[in-house]
Amino acid sequence: MLEKIPKGGVCAEVGILKGDYSRYILDIVKPQKLHLIDIDSKSIKIARKRFEDEIEQNLVEVHREDSSTFLSTVPDATFDWIYIDGDHSYEGVKRDLEAAHSKIKPDGLISLNDYIFFGSSDLTKYGIIEATNEFCIEYDYELVHFALHGRMYNDVTIRRIKKG
Ligand SMILES: C[S@@+](CC[C@H](N)C(=O)[O-])C[C@H]1O[C@@H](n2cnc3c(N)ncnc32)[C@H](O)[C@@H]1O
Repeated sequence: MLEKIPKGGVCAEVGILKGDYSRYILDIVKPQKLHLIDIDSKSIKIARKRFEDEIEQNLVEVHREDSSTFLSTVPDATFDWIYIDGDHSYEGVKRDLEAAHSKIKPDGLISLNDYIFFGSSDLTKYGIIEATNEFCIEYDYELVHFALHGRMYNDVTIRRIKKG
C-alpha cells in the first residue's frame, strides 16, 4: 500500500511503537516531513533514538501526545497523508478520524491499520471497521486502497469523494 501513497508529502503516523512502520514510510513514501505521534514515553524514546539523524535533518518530528489532541492543534489542510495505527477502539479511531478530517488537504489520504473486526492473535475486538465505515458515510469518503494482510490485519486508505 505504501507504494501507492504519493511521495514527497507532509505525513503523519499515529502510533509509533518501535518505529518499524515509520522506517518503511521514510524509505518508501519519502515524505518531505513525517510527524510521529505516540502517547507512550517508551515509544517516544525509541523514536528519538532511532530517527536521530532524520530529526536532525528536520525530516522527522516526534510528538508525545494523545493523537487526536495533537491533530487538533495543527493548521487545517496540513497533511497529504495520515496513517492511523494508535488507539484501536471504536471511540479512539472515531476521535482520530474526526480530528484528521480537517487536517488533511482536500485531496489528502487517510490510511488505517487493522481494518479487522476481531484480532486472531490477541483475541481482542477492534473498532476500526465500524468507525471507518461510519466516518465514510457521514463525511463522504470512499475506500481507495484495501491492502491484504496474511492474517487479515488489513490496511485501508480512504479519501474525500470528489464532487461533480
Ligand atoms: C499498534 S502500535 C503502532 C505500531 C506501528 N504503527 C507499527 O506498525 O510499527 C500502537 C501504538 O499507538 C500508541 N497509542 C495508543 N493510543 C494512543 C493515543 N490515544 N494517542 C497516541 N498514541 C497512541 C501506543 O502507545 C502504541 O505505541
